[in-house]
Amino acid sequence: MVAICSECEAPLAADRPCACGGLPEFRLRSPRMSPHGYKNTLKHRRVSSDPRFRSGVWRYIELLPPIQDSEIVSMAEGNVPLYESAGRGEDFAEVRKLAYLHLGMNPTGSFKDLGMTVAVSAAKASGMRSVACASTGNTAASMAAYAARGGLRSYALVPRNGISREKLAQIRDYGAEVVEVQGSFDDAFARLAELDAVAIVNSVNPYRIEGQKCAAFAMLEARGWCVPDWVVLPGGNLGNVSAIGKGLLEAHALGLIGRLPRIAVIQASGAAPFVHAWEHQVDLVPCVAQTMASAIAIGNPKSWRRARRILKACNGTAISVSDAEIDRAKGVIGLEGIGCEPASASSLAGLRELVRRGIVDGKADVVTILTGHVLKDGAASVRVADLRDVQKARGSHACAI
Ligand code: F0G
Repeated sequence: MVAICSECEAPLAADRPCACGGLPEFRLRSPRMSPHGYKNTLKHRRVSSDPRFRSGVWRYIELLPPIQDSEIVSMAEGNVPLYESAGRGEDFAEVRKLAYLHLGMNPTGSFKDLGMTVAVSAAKASGMRSVACASTGNTAASMAAYAARGGLRSYALVPRNGISREKLAQIRDYGAEVVEVQGSFDDAFARLAELDAVAIVNSVNPYRIEGQKCAAFAMLEARGWCVPDWVVLPGGNLGNVSAIGKGLLEAHALGLIGRLPRIAVIQASGAAPFVHAWEHQVDLVPCVAQTMASAIAIGNPKSWRRARRILKACNGTAISVSDAEIDRAKGVIGLEGIGCEPASASSLAGLRELVRRGIVDGKADVVTILTGHVLKDGAASVRVADLRDVQKARGSHACAI
């Protein structure tokens, strides 16, 4: 299938960037059904016994690049809960209506599975025998699992000190070859160029974006196609905001929704090159990333142009939050009985800050995206629980965690 450049729209091979700096992206296919007819079809698929439709990605098959059924590697990904706040999150952020789309409730515990089912299936269909990625952990865990299911070899390049023990163990459990690279995610990504005859399954791969965009459809379906005012999500390499934004724009273009939600991207303040570029309306200047939220410790995000285009299209914004604020938000999500890894909690921390600044109205209806499972980073959970104990011992009511 031919892709186009996300920026200048020139036709492009799916596996390389454009001379203008844009990334390959697929054009929307149409379901050839009325919006009402398509919504009904989707409803029936939810209870269908067709194995493809047990996946919350392949259920939207008309909106995906064509891949032969026999090549599809799927694990019922994408069927994740939309949890309404039980009150603590709403109180913490001072917002009227808050729900969490928990993409950590996927087969390998992160949102990456939605994209990986499509990327690995496409690699398999094109005859590739191996896949590879650079990763702070979740992409690699997802790649390793789907590659194993599809009978492909996988190679994970990870930053030596920038990945949780749990993620490293998980990647190895699924049988990937792990190469620990000295330096950061950005250094690991640069090393990918040394690999030959492998399909790169980072989010520069347009098949990943096609799968991940389905999170937007799933969120809308779970809400009866009622559009929230804001969608708030963490940003690292900025593939996910590009994907979810693409899904929302497509849902709008197809008439499945009548308006767009606004999107807010939240970065950790020690890894916020996109926020800087957004605020100053300049091109992205890479930085050396430093944050305890290791999943989003990325200083040179590859999808920043796409993310900027999405935010402009939906009147969105980007802000950063400190590691301390991320930890507090993680504590609140824990006390909601939900839990998540630190990078995910940046979305709630960011929402609180957006309300404080008056950018999000306190009366708004908000969906925050939780990207990774609480079990992905045990050390972070211990740190946050210890912090809570210290506050309890001091009798402090200043912090809601
Ligand atoms: N949240 C989690 C839990 C992540 O693992 C990532 C990215 C993000 C948010 C940010 O998403 O990069 O699409 O903006 N993790 C990548 C990885 C980098 O290698 O697992 P993004």
